[in-house]
Amino acid sequence: MESMKSTGLGHFPLTRMRRNRRADWTRRMVAENRLSADDLIWPVFVVEGTGVCDPISTMPGVDRLSIDLMVAAVGEAKELGIPSIAIFPYTNPDLKTPDAAEAFNPDNLICRAVKAIKADHPEIGIICDVALDPYNSDGHDGLVRDGIIVNDETVEVLCKQALVQAEAGCDVIAPSDMMDGRIQAIRGCLDHAGFEDVLIMSYAAKYASVFYGPFRDAVGSGSVLKGDKKTYQMDPANSDEAIREVALDIDEGTDMVMIKPGLHYLDIIYRIKNAFGVPTYAYNVSGEYAMLRLAAKEGCFDYNSAMMETLMAFKRAGADGILTYAAVEAAKLLKKMS
Ligand code: PBG
Repeated sequence: MESMKSTGLGHFPLTRMRRNRRADWTRRMVAENRLSADDLIWPVFVVEGTGVCDPISTMPGVDRLSIDLMVAAVGEAKELGIPSIAIFPYTNPDLKTPDAAEAFNPDNLICRAVKAIKADHPEIGIICDVALDPYNSDGHDGLVRDGIIVNDETVEVLCKQALVQAEAGCDVIAPSDMMDGRIQAIRGCLDHAGFEDVLIMSYAAKYASVFYGPFRDAVGSGSVLKGDKKTYQMDPANSDEAIREVALDIDEGTDMVMIKPGLHYLDIIYRIKNAFGVPTYAYNVSGEYAMLRLAAKEGCFDYNSAMMETLMAFKRAGADGILTYAAVEAAKLLKKMS
């Protein structure tokens, strides 16, 4: 309902808005949005080794896990009702090259992690990021030639990366690179190889944001990144452009779209859900997660309350789901509340 016309009846003291808020049961009756474990997607960081649980200093409460520990952690997430995870690699620095060849090595860390998780937990959905930044020696999502991030050559590599991930058993390919035409190219390659049932969740409207900082620490791309990502990620000043980006990705065959970051872009989520009505996801990114954690640590507010209020904001804006580092904690709280 966009316009609130007066009915002629709704005047104080006849109308008292506080009546509907007077008790927990009335508040539950009139609640317009609900959060459930089904809304949560859990991003996780995988690292080489066994028994490794390596804390990420800029993301308190988040650890890089070796495959064995990750399989166990994913089992817990599944038990809590979380439908899917998004998996990111911390790549050994020696494997980073200008051609990002490790991205399409069928035996790379991501592919091994996908196989191990699928073997133990076939019922949980696995989302894999497609972009070259964890594998590129200059930290960019695309190949760099003479200082330019080249589009079409990058798309060819992204297709190879998507294919090895699909072969390993990945359920959802999530291109986060913002190259033009990559959804169509990846869809074509997947279909050609017999993976017509593998989904695509495009990072359709992804902004050149400072809030990715802690993530770049987590995957080890921050220290190697040369320059910024403004020639491919969007300008935070724009919102009509996000509509165009999403329209293109839908036309190219994406099944779901994502807006990223989330919290500072609730207006974009709202517009996109209203404009297209397609499954729309928000990425509550690393810097947004860190803000709440660090502010709570300083005594500004209670962490759990701030986190749950934040997740509800995404639902209110129209998101069908939220990628959040707090997914497991949120699912535990939801279980306790039910
Ligand atoms: C890689 C990628 C990034 C994130 C997800 N995939 C970082 C970037 O584009 O620099 C950020 C996620 C987060 O900050 O939580 N292309």
